[in-house]
Amino acid sequence: MGKKLLTEHFGVQGIQQLQVYKQHGGYASLEKALKKTPDEIVNEVMTSGLRGRGGAGFPTGRKWSFIDKKSGKPRYLVCNADESEPGTFKDRYLMEVNPHLLIEGMIISSFALGAHLSYIYIRGELLYVYHILEKAIAEAYEAGYLGKNILGTGYDLELYCHPGGGAYICGEETALIESLEGKRGNPRIKPPFPAISGLYNNPTVVNNVESIATVPAIIAMGGEEYAKIGIGHSKGTKLISACGHIKKPGIYEIELGLPVEEFIYSDEYCGGIRGGRKLKAVVAGGSSVPILPAELILKTEKGEPRLMSYESLSDGGFTSGTMLGSGGFIVMDETTSIVKNLFNFTRFYHHESCGQCSPCREGTAWMEKILHRILHGHGTLKDVDLLWTLQKNIDGKTICPLGDAAAWPVASAIRHFRSEFEDFVQHPEKHLDVKHYFNQIEKKELA
Ligand SMILES: Cc1cc2nc3c(=O)[nH]c(=O)nc-3n(C[C@H](O)[C@H](O)[C@H](O)COP(=O)(O)O)c2cc1C
Ligand code: SF4
Repeated sequence: MGKKLLTEHFGVQGIQQLQVYKQHGGYASLEKALKKTPDEIVNEVMTSGLRGRGGAGFPTGRKWSFIDKKSGKPRYLVCNADESEPGTFKDRYLMEVNPHLLIEGMIISSFALGAHLSYIYIRGELLYVYHILEKAIAEAYEAGYLGKNILGTGYDLELYCHPGGGAYICGEETALIESLEGKRGNPRIKPPFPAISGLYNNPTVVNNVESIATVPAIIAMGGEEYAKIGIGHSKGTKLISACGHIKKPGIYEIELGLPVEEFIYSDEYCGGIRGGRKLKAVVAGGSSVPILPAELILKTEKGEPRLMSYESLSDGGFTSGTMLGSGGFIVMDETTSIVKNLFNFTRFYHHESCGQCSPCREGTAWMEKILHRILHGHGTLKDVDLLWTLQKNIDGKTICPLGDAAAWPVASAIRHFRSEFEDFVQHPEKHLDVKHYFNQIEKKELA
């Protein structure tokens, strides 16, 4: 049984309430943190080796150290609770079950950054979670954990929860900032990075829900102890939202370094593949990361067991590896059509592209159109090559990483499952259930 730092109290009745949260040690880390200096907290987080849990895995302490403290400008902490990546559903659950853990993390992190105004930007569709957070924030104000002169220390903090409009692109940190400022959520060109010029052009840190919710545990146990969990440069525990053709879909807190095979097949986690079928492929870190066939997700190209860690999952680069990403673990059994799955992902990225840059705006539309053609039995072998060229012309050529996120699934699906695409275009009659599939999609869209 691995360590549980974020999910330890998930089964506790009433943990959403401040009183119960406190009975289980809640807000003790805040009291401890407020006795330290802000720089000591930044150092503690740096020592812990925590890496951002939003997808990119950037070291959290380092990001905090970039914040411009000399300019005298107001500083902000913004929690990214926009979680909309297909396959990723950990943050919403964490906020729903244990809202005070995030709030405690927000107060400690804001104190460390010298922020007096902080925001939780929550995905618009998660209105029920927004209400849970609002209630918990009100309780924290009432108890003197928020507002003026927190716990008599002289530190002031206002915390707001802001629901977005429900666009995936608003999860990209600069689009989120634009949206928070009341504008259309279009990503900004970087640099400048938010740490220098973010919200209202002031120094801003944007961190994922899970990253911030981990801070109380780091303060409680100390950065050094936290860094003992995990493997290599993948420290601590990570929430994985597991879905697809597994016996036990759900949210699991794992110690980084757990073998992928154990995660998929052991009863403690996913419990194996449903119906005793064979594993075909896995998308390990949310829809944006490269898909890997069974043999490459279980073992690296060198034959070593693949581990749930930043380094091991990316071993082999994009030729034979993938990424830990946001921890959205999508498991596909032998009955899955990779072509149909790719169409779904591509349709999503086309729909969510903000349209600012032509490679992403036009490229995602083309890719969706070509996949639609293939699925309708009108594809040719040239279409597979065209898809390949298109993704290459998007990857790395856009303002924000949504372009890459749209390109990588296409590249990896063709790289690892080219024969399936070829079979689709050469023998469309073998895939006749496609009509039924489209009828379902069209019915949903008309509804
Ligand atoms: C299209 C797009 C969507 C994103 N959505 C999210 C999201 O929902 N939640 C999140 O934490 N990060 C998301 N990110 C990553 C953020 O831009 C940012 O890197 C992250 O919030 C930083 O937090 P971290 O350092 O704690 O991981 C997204 C990035 C892109 C390009
Ligand atoms: S890559 Fe796509 S989503 Fe990102 S800025 Fe360009 S058009 Fe918008």
